[in-house]
Amino acid sequence: MSSLASLSSSCTPSTFSSLQVFGARILNIEALLVTNFSAPVANTFRIFQPSIQVQNASFCNVTVTYTHPGQQDEVTAQTWLPIGNWNGRLQAVGGAGWAAGAGGVPLSLELMKGAVGDGYVTITDDAGLTGGIEGVKDWGLLSPGNPNLYKINNLGAISINEQSIIGKALIRSFYGKGPEFSYWSGCSQGGRQGIMAAQRYPTAFDGIASACPALHIPDILASIQWPQQFMNSIGEHPYPCEIDALTAAAISACDPLDGLVDGIISDPSTCLHNFDPFSLIGTPISCFTTNTTVPISHAAAAVANATWHGPHDPSGRQMWYGIPQGADLTGGSSGRDQPGIAWTNCTAGPNSTCTGTNSFLSFPYLSLLVAKGDPSFNISNLTLSEFSALIHAGKQQYSSFLATDDPDLSAFRNAGGKLITIHGLADQQISPEGTLRYYKSVEKELRGDVKDFYRHFEIPGLAHCFGGRSGPPDGLWEQLRGWVEEGKPAPEESGVEVTGLDGEVQKRVVCAWPARGNGLGIERMIPGVYEATGLEALDHEEDHL
Ligand SMILES: *[C@@H]1O[C@H](CO)[C@@H](O)[C@H](O)[C@H]1NC(C)=O
Ligand SMILES: *[C@@H]1O[C@H](CO)[C@@H](O)[C@H](O)[C@H]1NC(C)=O
Ligand SMILES: *[C@@H]1O[C@H](CO)[C@@H](O)[C@H](O)[C@H]1NC(C)=O
Ligand SMILES: *[C@@H]1O[C@H](CO)[C@@H](O)[C@H](O)[C@H]1NC(C)=O
Ligand SMILES: *[C@@H]1O[C@H](CO)[C@@H](O)[C@H](O)[C@H]1NC(C)=O
Ligand SMILES: *[C@@H]1O[C@H](CO)[C@@H](O)[C@H](O)[C@H]1NC(C)=O
Ligand SMILES: *[C@@H]1O[C@H](CO)[C@@H](O)[C@H](O)[C@H]1NC(C)=O
Ligand SMILES: *[C@@H]1O[C@H](CO)[C@@H](O)[C@H](O)[C@H]1NC(C)=O
Ligand SMILES: *[C@@H]1O[C@H](CO)[C@@H](O)[C@H](O)[C@H]1NC(C)=O
Repeated sequence: MSSLASLSSSCTPSTFSSLQVFGARILNIEALLVTNFSAPVANTFRIFQPSIQVQNASFCNVTVTYTHPGQQDEVTAQTWLPIGNWNGRLQAVGGAGWAAGAGGVPLSLELMKGAVGDGYVTITDDAGLTGGIEGVKDWGLLSPGNPNLYKINNLGAISINEQSIIGKALIRSFYGKGPEFSYWSGCSQGGRQGIMAAQRYPTAFDGIASACPALHIPDILASIQWPQQFMNSIGEHPYPCEIDALTAAAISACDPLDGLVDGIISDPSTCLHNFDPFSLIGTPISCFTTNTTVPISHAAAAVANATWHGPHDPSGRQMWYGIPQGADLTGGSSGRDQPGIAWTNCTAGPNSTCTGTNSFLSFPYLSLLVAKGDPSFNISNLTLSEFSALIHAGKQQYSSFLATDDPDLSAFRNAGGKLITIHGLADQQISPEGTLRYYKSVEKELRGDVKDFYRHFEIPGLAHCFGGRSGPPDGLWEQLRGWVEEGKPAPEESGVEVTGLDGEVQKRVVCAWPARGNGLGIERMIPGVYEATGLEALDHEEDHL
């Protein structure tokens, strides 16, 4: 029997029956042979890897269900083991939104299809959660007053380690060896999961690629809820067209500050001081909401200002970073299939009136996990001090589960692990400042000894995971592999494709922090050169949080 035929015939549950996971009881193993699997996978979803047309792939699709005795949960891990072209490696993939992963999460599935097409064994795990990216509204509460702490912990950390353990065990059972190297790939929640692996399970993965990670969850949800909270508190909900007009005006004003007019703000923190939305009050704009010309209102300027500056507590102290100017605050660029954080829901026609829309990320967190479903706690109607107290309570209760901000990566470093993070500077959900803050905290904790195992890239023009004027840095994965496997130097720069104002696609270079591309991607600017070029404004403000 050829090894190919023998692998195909090994795709049965009995091949994997020795699987054991400490703390878990295996309930069922299903193994299905998949042949002639074809799918196009776009680099937009893979982020670190180029687009691929998967063709005629064969793999063993193993679904493991297990429970954590006493928790009464049922967790599903789905693993695809390539037949014929296994490259000796594991690529575990992350989830999105409130989903840890598994079959119902589109982003996880796209990552898996690409990985199996490249010959990786790939695995996703749902942490026992239901309901997809909005799932916390299903599983967040056991009953009013009782948040489901085990599920939160399984999402936060436990399932990530189990994914590594199960993936590696299935590989050994199926191929009789390996894997030689194990990797993590994910964005947003999936990006956070990768960093949690580096923090708590330092030997789980040799290489981790994390995009736009949802670190500091209790803080970032304050920023996500903030525009709605602000609108509720002033009792005004401006038209989305006004917010879009202010974003467009901010881009026009701040885009040239880097010397290149390309529709991209390459340094949003400088833009905050260079563009005043209040100066546009009264400017007539053509409004898609009302289908009329309307003047930009004071409320719209105030909402944009608040969203960009981030939540502030009653004493005026910034609670967390704002969303960068240039980011799409209403969801317009995605065809409004998902409302942006400052989206309002308006009636049609000239005398349109609007109401707030709650984010599926922040609203159920605040109402179910933090306020615990207490009906007397109306999240749509909080004073600023109530809001600030609620955010603080959330941090007290959930930071240890979800914040993923432990700066001590020494165990990961010592185990030889390599970590790459990227963050889009036009991210409309999660401030890129938080990811930079984490990188700096690791630098500080390890006394600067970071560049040999951790590199961070800011990507001008990239929105949350995908979208925006910049494409993904889709060559970084191969750079990570060279770094992990062949001792190649850490990546200093990587390529992206940017769509300019004229619609023309240009190749650009993005640089590992603290270097920054100059927008043209030919030369690089490094700190110390700013002064010489008169662009000292590009230096980041001192962190004041
Ligand atoms: C394999 O899939 C392709 C397209 O996905 C299809 O055209 C072809 O008929 C399939 N071949 C077999 C043997 O099933
Ligand atoms: C598809 O893959 C199968 C199994 O590897 C192989 O036998 C077959 O020749 C392939 N078909 C094509 C069209 O490449
Ligand atoms: C893998 O198996 C699971 C469980 O049976 C199934 O839901 C899923 O569609 C399968 N995936 C593929 C690509 O066949
Ligand atoms: C918008 O206004 C234009 C001109 O006033 C009119 O022709 C068009 O039908 C309107 N569209 C909608 C959706 O009301
Ligand atoms: C803009 O927001 C900042 C931060 O909350 C605030 O300090 C400032 O007063 C706001 N500007 C105006 C004109 O309201
Ligand atoms: C917008 O308002 C309409 C009418 O009140 C409602 O049916 C719809 O569900 C709302 N949409 C969102 C996203 O809130
Ligand atoms: C809109 O409101 C204005 C002023 O309140 C009123 O004069 C006008 O008739 C209203 N138009 C419609 C279509 O209701
Ligand atoms: C919560 O507050 C909002 C905004 O003030 C209001 O529309 C809604 O009716 C309130 N809900 C309850 C249950 O009181
Ligand atoms: C919340 O709603 C109540 C009544 O529904 C109202 O009296 C109160 O002023 C509202 N508070 C805020 C902050 O809007």
